[in-house]
Amino acid sequence: MIKTDKQQEDFISTVSHELRTPLTSIRGFAQTMLSSWDGLDDESKKKFIQIIEQQSNRLINLVENMLSVNKLQSFKDKLIYKSVNANALIETVIQFIKHQYPNHNFETQFNKKIPQILVDTDKFQQIMTNLIENASKYSNEGTNITVVTDFSSSPDYVSIKVKDEGIGIKEEDFDKIFTKFSRLDNPLTRKIQGSGLGLYITKTLVQKMNGKISVQSNDNGTTFEVLLPTENVETQLKEAKSKKQKVKSRSGLTKGTAE
Ligand SMILES: Nc1ncnc2c1ncn2[C@@H]1O[C@H](COP(=O)(O)OP(=O)(O)OP(=O)(O)O)[C@@H](O)[C@H]1O
Ligand SMILES: [Mg+2]
Repeated sequence: MIKTDKQQEDFISTVSHELRTPLTSIRGFAQTMLSSWDGLDDESKKKFIQIIEQQSNRLINLVENMLSVNKLQSFKDKLIYKSVNANALIETVIQFIKHQYPNHNFETQFNKKIPQILVDTDKFQQIMTNLIENASKYSNEGTNITVVTDFSSSPDYVSIKVKDEGIGIKEEDFDKIFTKFSRLDNPLTRKIQGSGLGLYITKTLVQKMNGKISVQSNDNGTTFEVLLPTENVETQLKEAKSKKQKVKSRSGLTKGTAE
């Protein structure tokens, strides 16, 4: 929840700025096309419409992120768990992002034997979209983005790594990037649009699904690793939680709220 006036002011100014930039661009290109339609060649018209499409996508992402934050904070967001194959879902996300970043090289190194994970499918896709989109946004065209899936060194977890060859993140900023509205100040980030919500939402969702997220970075690029529990461990966690709940209610410790 937004608590102080200062936080509320910051929130409104970030949102207004983020909304205004794509809207101004959409209006500008639409006006130019309307006023100079006959003077524009087909290539320019196509380019302008592509910009309008990109900026509209940016607005949709922004609104989706805002709604996610709101739901996450109000605990209204109930997750619907399903047993899924991570490789197949990641492949779908890559196909979608490839369309927006056609000049990056997307590679996959999937371990085909990884066990099923128990996750909310939409949220899992949202996590992967945020990480793969960041990898694309904060690296140059022509570089590689590699998604690796494997068994984790911690038992009963699947490891998913998203590696890029981009601008990198300093170790002192590792904690900051996962907080709400935080964007690192460097010349590239200044040129790239973003609300600073993606990683905050990603971390919150990973933790809600009993997973872990970490980051490593150096001059050659950045790797985000997500660990998600396999079907097995998730069932054990749930059983342990419900046993604890029963013991608590028997001893009268709970206030009657169901989870
Ligand atoms: N792969 C990466 N390489 C370098 N810097 C990154 C990478 N991913 C994130 N960052 C830095 O962390 C900041 C926070 O990332 P986050 O995804 O939360 O926000 P955003 O990308 O700026 O906006 P949004 O995701 O809400 O559109 C970014 O602004 C950028 O400075
Ligand atoms: Mg982002």
